[in-house]
Order: sequence, then C-alpha cells, then structure tokens
Amino acid sequence: MRALSSRLAQIVDALPLRPGMRVLEIGGAPGAAARAVADRIGDGHILVIDRSARGVALTERNAAAEIAAGRMSVRAVAAEDFELLPGEPPYDLAFAVRVGALDGRHPGAGERARRRIAAALVPGGRLFIDGGDPLRGVELPRGPA
Ligand SMILES: C[S@@+](CC[C@H](N)C(=O)[O-])C[C@H]1O[C@@H](n2cnc3c(N)ncnc32)[C@H](O)[C@@H]1O
Repeated sequence: MRALSSRLAQIVDALPLRPGMRVLEIGGAPGAAARAVADRIGDGHILVIDRSARGVALTERNAAAEIAAGRMSVRAVAAEDFELLPGEPPYDLAFAVRVGALDGRHPGAGERARRRIAAALVPGGRLFIDGGDPLRGVELPRGPA
C-alpha cells in the first residue's frame, strides 16, 4: 500500500489522539488513515467500519499486521446500522473522511448515522469529519440511538 497521502496525514495529525485510546473510523477503507492512527495510539485500538465488502477486504489485506497484533479490527457495516457488539467497549473518538452520510450530502442517513455513532462513544466522546481546517467537530445527538 502507498504511503499516507498528505491529505490524510494532515487529518491524522489534527486528531486529538492519545496512547490507549479506542478510535472508530467510519468509511475508512482501504485503511491508510487507520494504520497511521494505530501507530499513534500504542496499546489502544482502532475499529474501521465500511459499508463496502470490497473495501473491508482491502483494508484487511493492507492492515494485516495491525489486525494480527490486535491493534485494529475491521467490520462491514454502514454507519447508519452500526452498533456495538455484546461486550464491546465504547469508543473514545470517531472520525470520518469523505463519507457522504456525515458531510451533509445525505441528511436522512446522516441523522441515523450520528445517532448510532453517539451510542457507540463514551460520554463526551467526539466525532470529527473533514471539511474544516482540516477537521471539524460534529454535534452529536444525546439519548437513545
Ligand atoms: C470516498 S471514500 C473515502 C475513503 C477514505 N476515508 C479516504 O478519505 O481516503 C468513502 C468510503 O466510505 C465508505 N462509506 C460511504 N458511506 C458509508 C456509510 N454510510 N457507512 C459506512 N461506510 C461508508 C465507502 O464504502 C468508501 O470506502
């Protein structure tokens, strides 16, 4: 896989990452940003979700080392349908880059996705998307997903 693009490197640099964090990336195929995040969170964990089965397969191939080490996992699911598995701890931070459901291109899907993401985050957990400088925080709904 090619080196991280400067566009994604800027995004990863701007995320408030700390060692030990649990991070959720939405629409993260083929795994370039997620691998860079995994490098920065030490014994933390990043879950990449993507609605494309092909994208998930590519991510699994590109991030085989991180997955084998237990530092990353990948799941085929749309953000609008995402929920934590039984016993899965919530995530500290979520981000998405160029994902239509979250950048305003699909408002209905966006509302459902934001509810699902909010339900999968710790209290006070934040969602960041591209389109800011370079990121912007997204207001998340409170209450049931
Ligand atoms: C334009 S690509 C961007 C990929 C990567 N984030 C980047 O910036 O290079 C959008 C990705 O988001 C995924 N995607 C789009 N809508 C989604 C949704 N509602 N839930 C999960 N994944 C989604 C697509 O399958 C695709 O892999």
